[in-house]
Amino acid sequence: MKFVSTPYTRISPVNRSISWQGDWANQELCDLAFEKARSAQAKWRSTSIDERISVLKRFASLLKVNSESIATTITLESGKPFWESLTELQSSIAKVDNAIDAIRTRRWDNVEPNATGSTAVRYRSLGIVLVLGPYNLPLHLPGAHIIPALLAGNCVIFKPSEKAAAVGDWIAKCWKEAEIPEGVLEVLHGGVEVAQYLANLNLDGVFFTGSYRGGVALHRLLAGRPECLLALEMGGNNPLIVENVSDHRAAIQTIVASAYITSGQRCTCARRIVVVDTPKNRTLVDRLVHSMEKIRVGDPFQEPQPFMGALVSEEASQQILHAQSMLASAGATTLVACKSMPDNSCILSPGLSLITPDHQVDEEYFGPLATLCFVKDMHQAIEIANRTRYGLAAGLLSDDRSCYEHFLNNIQAGIVNWNSPTTGASGKLPFGGIGASGNHRPSGYFASDYCSYPIASVEKNPLQLLPVSPGLEAID
Ligand code: NAD
Ligand code: SIN
Repeated sequence: MKFVSTPYTRISPVNRSISWQGDWANQELCDLAFEKARSAQAKWRSTSIDERISVLKRFASLLKVNSESIATTITLESGKPFWESLTELQSSIAKVDNAIDAIRTRRWDNVEPNATGSTAVRYRSLGIVLVLGPYNLPLHLPGAHIIPALLAGNCVIFKPSEKAAAVGDWIAKCWKEAEIPEGVLEVLHGGVEVAQYLANLNLDGVFFTGSYRGGVALHRLLAGRPECLLALEMGGNNPLIVENVSDHRAAIQTIVASAYITSGQRCTCARRIVVVDTPKNRTLVDRLVHSMEKIRVGDPFQEPQPFMGALVSEEASQQILHAQSMLASAGATTLVACKSMPDNSCILSPGLSLITPDHQVDEEYFGPLATLCFVKDMHQAIEIANRTRYGLAAGLLSDDRSCYEHFLNNIQAGIVNWNSPTTGASGKLPFGGIGASGNHRPSGYFASDYCSYPIASVEKNPLQLLPVSPGLEAID
């Protein structure tokens, strides 16, 4: 059945202004974008890598030139503090060099001469890929797919999150001004219906960053189409274990940076603080509770800047408050209550609920709400940390290397950090999880891997006689 365009208005969670207004793509626009990508594909694939790199570099410069305006738009749509939008911008700019480095080290053609000719591995772009982006890092995370995909020679159809449509327009504008050829990057706005219509086209890849629910829906939709590469980056219910550390101030900073940065709206945020029960750690938790009240929360544009700004919507903030009540009804003790600000209910203060080791709920609370649980030893800590269907990030705070090695060997996650926040991924490392967090197509530095396929060749010139196989002696 044909679908028509839907009018859509995005209201900023920061000041209730309209950040984007327009019509979502209809079926004709989706088909047209696909046709344009198809027409552009062969030429872009055969454009030299140096020319593609020039376009990428121009894009990075345009991000830099427009950084204030883009960061303002990111803050208006996502609600994160302005300083943090600027750091997102820096990550996006750095992604260009990281992607160039990654393609050179991981997917560079290699021809090995031998006595009779050569063997070769060459990498070829998939073709036309769809990128579906989330709202929480609306510039950087789509870019984490788009930049390596374009560099590898793919044409990209990008549908930004409907909650960050104006950032999507900035992305489109910067690529256009970077002189990306017509049809190589098509940006279409829409919600789930548009995403699903696009995913049903004759694509070569779908690169998704978003919720588990969205990822599973796409996995189902692409069932029976093994020729279309699906890369899924999904949510997490990430544990952070506190074993024994001498620097309590550093531990508190690391816990706060893990659980509450971006008001908890990062896939890598620590949702479960698991603390080995010792008198020293009881003191550390008291100090954490006390410190949480000192975190500056407020309007994301205010000066001095807050650590935490707004959540993406009223609905998101209600979900977190509801989750806190559900935890309390299930027997949790609220150590620090997550509360909405009187002048803007999208702004929440950080919350921490004390649960017992037998708590079984495995939900991703995508906001500033973490649970804390005391356990008797590291064995129980790891058992509880692994009690999740997700497997994105996990962290350990401990002064003991052998404790870290035990943790590293037994924890189930794609990102395993020691005395570092679970958040703030390195652009030089792969980024992805196991279980319900992904489908073994890590992004980050390894994104170049899913943007192309290898062609293996055995090459000889001139044609030579083969060793004669039994039964072929008569051929002359
Ligand atoms: P979301 O799944 O609601 O939306 C992401 C994108 O997918 C949007 O463009 C949306 O329109 C589209 N979409 C949503 N449901 C869909 C469906 N059923 N079929 C097709 N397309 C669909 O995610 P969000 O709310 O924007 O982002 C938050 C979620 O993303 C959290 O769960 C977070 O953990 C996760 N996330 C994961 C990573 C990672 O790299 N692993 C990074 C950031 C965010
Ligand atoms: C995210 O992708 O949501 C967070 C990445 C990070 O913490 O660096």
